[in-house]
Amino acid sequence: MPPTAKRDLISIEDLTDREIEEIFELADGMLPEKRGASEAHALAGKIMATLFYEASTRTRLSFESSMQRLGGSVISCPDMKSSSAAKGETIADTARVVSSYADVLVVRHYWDGAAQAMAEYAGVPVINAGDGSHEHPTQTLCDLYTLKKEKGDLKGLTVVICGDLKHGRTIHSLVYALARFGVNVVTLAAGGMELPQYVIEKLEREHHYNLTPVASDDLRAAVSETDAIYLTPSQPHQLALFTQVDHDIQGRIENMARGLKFDAFYVTRKQKERMKKDDGGQYPSLGESFLKERRFKDTVVMHPLPRVDELSPAIDNDRRGIYFKQAAYGVPVRMALLRFLLASGGVAKAPATRKKQSLYRSPEPLAPQCANANCVTRTESLSARPSFEPLFAAPGGALVLRCFYCNHELKIEYVGHTVSRRYCPCDISLGDTVADWFRRGELAIFDSIKQAEELGYEPYKGGPQRSLMAQEDIREAVRQMGEQIIKDSEDSGRLVLLGIKTNGAVLARRIAAEIEKNHRRKIETGEIEIFGNEEGIHRTGTENAEAEPLSLKDRPVVIVDDVIYTGKTVKSALSIIFKAGRPRSVRLAVLIDRGHREVPVKPNYVGKHIPSSEKERVRVRLREVEPDEKDRVVIYSIINSENSRPQPAAGSQA
Ligand code: CP
Repeated sequence: MPPTAKRDLISIEDLTDREIEEIFELADGMLPEKRGASEAHALAGKIMATLFYEASTRTRLSFESSMQRLGGSVISCPDMKSSSAAKGETIADTARVVSSYADVLVVRHYWDGAAQAMAEYAGVPVINAGDGSHEHPTQTLCDLYTLKKEKGDLKGLTVVICGDLKHGRTIHSLVYALARFGVNVVTLAAGGMELPQYVIEKLEREHHYNLTPVASDDLRAAVSETDAIYLTPSQPHQLALFTQVDHDIQGRIENMARGLKFDAFYVTRKQKERMKKDDGGQYPSLGESFLKERRFKDTVVMHPLPRVDELSPAIDNDRRGIYFKQAAYGVPVRMALLRFLLASGGVAKAPATRKKQSLYRSPEPLAPQCANANCVTRTESLSARPSFEPLFAAPGGALVLRCFYCNHELKIEYVGHTVSRRYCPCDISLGDTVADWFRRGELAIFDSIKQAEELGYEPYKGGPQRSLMAQEDIREAVRQMGEQIIKDSEDSGRLVLLGIKTNGAVLARRIAAEIEKNHRRKIETGEIEIFGNEEGIHRTGTENAEAEPLSLKDRPVVIVDDVIYTGKTVKSALSIIFKAGRPRSVRLAVLIDRGHREVPVKPNYVGKHIPSSEKERVRVRLREVEPDEKDRVVIYSIINSENSRPQPAAGSQA
C-alpha cells in the first residue's frame, strides 16, 4: 500500500462538518457570477482521471468541467469496457497504474466498496463518484449546498425522502449528512425498498437518531404512497411503539408529526439496475397535485437525477422545482472539492476519522465473508480483503462485524481464541473477553462449528449448569402467555405472532399451537430476521412460507422472543416492522426477562423473570411444536477444558 498521507473521499463520513462548511465557502466563490480570474489557473498542471465503470451524465461531466475551469486537465476512458478491465485487469491494478498518470482519480463502479478498494492502491486521492448501492458523497455535497442556498440553516429542517431508499446510494450518504446537520428526515419508501437496517442502526449508533412511525395521510395528498417513518435526534420514542402500553406518548408523537412543516421532498428513481427482479409494484411519484396544496407552498422538490417518471414535468417550471439548479451546483461544489483536496498538493489536511478505527482481519485462512454479495470483497477478493469494524454492543449484546467497504453488518455466531485454540458460541456474556482478544490480535471468528473444527479449534467446555425452567414450567409459561394474549386481543382473527429468529420463532409457533388447542382459533405466525443481508419478515407455519409475503399493516402484532436482556434486539425488530407498514398495535411476549433493559421497552407477557448477571449464560432449548427433545432453560459458565480456567461466560442466547 502506498505510504503517502493522501486524502480520499469515499464516504460522506470522511469529511467533518467543519470541512463540509469549508467546501461550501469555497463553492460560493466558484459560482459563475463570483468566480475570480485566478480560479482559472488554480489547478494548472494537475491531471484528473475519470474512471466510470457505470453510466453517468452529471457526475462525470461536472467533474470534468470543474477540473477544466480550474485550469487542470482530464484523462479518461470513454467506456471502461474498452479499457483493460475488459481483459480482466483488477481494479487494484488499474488504480495503481492510472494513479501514476494523474493527480486525482474520480471513480464510479457498480460494486459496493470498489472506490475504497481502489483508494488503497492508488498513490493519489480517490473520489467516490458512486459505488454500487453504498454511497455517493459528492452528490450529497451538492444536495446539502442546494438545501442551504434555498433554506439557510439546515438545523431543524424536515426533509421527506421518497422512493428507492434501499438501493439509492445518494440516499445513504444523504441521510448520514442530514442527521449530522440536525435535519429531521421522513422516509416514504416504495414497498420493499425501505432504508436498510444497517443504515438505520448506524444513524442510531453514531448520530443518535431514532425513528418513529408516523401516519402519512398528510403526505398522501402529494405522494401516492404508504407509510412514513420519521427520523429525529434521539428521544424516548420507542416506548410509544408498544401502542397498547402507552397511548399518550403515541398520540403526542402523531400530533407532532402532523404539525411538521415539510421543507423539502427529495425524490429518487427506482434503481432497476441493482435489482434481481423488478416486481413493478407501486412507486411514489410527485404529481401536479403537489403544486396545489397550500401546505407545500414553501416545500422545494429535489432529485439527484436522472428522473424517469417519478416527477411530474409540471413541477419543472414551478419555483419549488429546484432539481436542475441542484445539478448545476455540481460544478461549483466539485470545483471547491478539487481545490480542497488538491490545492495543498494532495496531502491530507486532517486524517479522516472513519479510517482511524482499527479493523478486524481474520488471522485464520477460513474467515467470515461480508453478507453483501455485491461487496467488492466478494466480487473481486484480489483487490479487497474482508475487513470489518467490530461492533461489540449490537442488539441482544451480539458481536457484529460491519464491513469496512460496504457497511453491511454480519452477526457473529462463533468466536475462538487463537492462542488456546478454543472456540465457543458468542454472546453478551463474552463481550469484554472478545474485545480483549481483538485488541491483542487473538480473535478468530467462525461462521460455523464446522469451520472452527476444520481449523483445529476445540470447544470450551461448559461449567456446571443450574436448571431455571424445566419442561413442565416452560409448557405452563407458554400456555399462560397464550391465554393472556387471547384475553387482550380485540381482533384475534387478524392477530400475528411474530417470532424473532430463531428461538423466538419457535416460541411463537408453540404459543399459536397452544391457542389453537385450547381455543380452536388458528393464529398466523411469522418470523423476523434482524441480521443478514436480506433482513425481513416471513410467514411461517405454511408449506410455502418463504414465498408468501406477510403483511402486518393495520394488524395487531405480538413480537415473541425467548429472552430479553438489553432490549436492543426488540428495538431493531420494531424498526423493521414499522418500515414494512404500520401495524394497528404492537406488544411483546418473552419467555425470560433477564432484567437488564437498556432501552425503554417493557414486555407485556413474561414467562418468568430471571435476574442474572452479564457474566452468566442463559441457554434456552425449545422443541418445535411436534415434540422431539426436551425443553429447558439453564444457566452456566464456561471452562477452558485444558486448564479448567474459568472464562467469562459465553453462550448461544443472552
Ligand atoms: N446524480 C447523478 O449521480 O447523476 P449521474 O448518474 O448522471 O452522474
